[in-house]
Amino acid sequence: MTKLEQIRAAEARLLLSTYDRNPILFTGGEGVYLIDEQDERYLDLLSGIGVNALGYGHPAIVEAIARQSRALIHISNLYYHEGQAELALRLTERTGLDRAFFANTGTEAWEGALKLARAYAGVKRSEGANIGTKFLALEQSFHGRTFGAMSTTYKEKYREPFAPVVPGVEFVRFNDVADLRAKFSNDVCAILVEAIQGEGGVRPLTQEFFAEARSLASSTGALLIVDEIQAGMGRTGKWCAYQHYGIDPDITTLAKPLAGGIPMGAVLCTEEVARALHAGMHGTTFGGGPLACAVAIAVIDTIEKEGLLAHATEVGDYFQAQLRALARRHDSILDVRGKGLMVAAELDSAELAKLAVAEMLKRRILINCTSDTVLRFLPPYILERAHVDTAIQALDEIFTAHAGAHAAAPSQGGQIHG
Ligand SMILES: Cc1ncc(COP(=O)(O)O)c(C=O)c1O
Repeated sequence: MTKLEQIRAAEARLLLSTYDRNPILFTGGEGVYLIDEQDERYLDLLSGIGVNALGYGHPAIVEAIARQSRALIHISNLYYHEGQAELALRLTERTGLDRAFFANTGTEAWEGALKLARAYAGVKRSEGANIGTKFLALEQSFHGRTFGAMSTTYKEKYREPFAPVVPGVEFVRFNDVADLRAKFSNDVCAILVEAIQGEGGVRPLTQEFFAEARSLASSTGALLIVDEIQAGMGRTGKWCAYQHYGIDPDITTLAKPLAGGIPMGAVLCTEEVARALHAGMHGTTFGGGPLACAVAIAVIDTIEKEGLLAHATEVGDYFQAQLRALARRHDSILDVRGKGLMVAAELDSAELAKLAVAEMLKRRILINCTSDTVLRFLPPYILERAHVDTAIQALDEIFTAHAGAHAAAPSQGGQIHG
């Protein structure tokens, strides 16, 4: 038995069957490459689902982990350490929000945001405002797997097995302004959006829809909450994707790349909203620990020092341009979209999307497929044009072979049945 086979057998016996893993055993990483047990290198265009923004083994991350782990890894939130205020300052300066709460994951940050919105609505009611407790979320949204987050996540498959979900959530058709207006009322305490839906297929909000959500929320004192867990922290070329729209949320959430692979999430909000929480209402044992804070500070400083926002924009634009050129050669690519290094190509069939991911893997290039037909690319921000060229050439070969096989299929079929 190989080492991989042994691990697969052990996992099959010992773990809950929550993941359908690819049969590869990774043992290392360097830059934009993952390295398997045989020392084979894989070009990683997924970066641990949008986490490893600086790639693998970046000296700034390695150094921050080494330095901070020698000093302090964990102290709980009963005491002070240097990192939380320092990180909060960096995040508030870059997001336009005023205060931060630190969590450990995306879903947990989102739970914090939902709780904050309900608490704020309670404060407003106590001050005489006519405002309810309902959340308006969007169709195709994804906000996480814990109960509150799952209840605001659209797809039935994530919610239905765990019913009853948290009540008080209604879904609005994506980018449908009329549906948003029809469903909005004084019952709503918050409108929940991703500026660019991630799991929903890399779909950006329209300016019109986003602006309407902002203005409806403001009209009653409800909140606009923008989930930047996948799109935020520089992936789209700005710190937050909502900054492309010039729209200010009341609350935003960050996670994935925030601490360069060390688990961390954050809720950021305005001073006005922050008054809804006081000591004891919300908290976490691990959140905002010294190690995660030190690494997040290093991530932010490195993104700035290395000019990675501009780089993500430049290489992302190139990536999209190359995919568009590919789409002109292959009818099976229906659409190319995204922002910065959050990029997608929508294909005409789920079968082809699955095949493309598998064929890319055979060529040692990691991508994934979301929403059945959408090839998704969330590479490290240090990606270069040459890596894009490698991926495009591989996709070209795959689509060409597929088209060839399909063109050949009818005659082959004719022979078989003839
Ligand atoms: C937009 C968005 N929100 C929330 C989450 C949940 O984050 P986590 O998996 O860290 O709990 C994700 C994860 O994919 C996400 O993309």
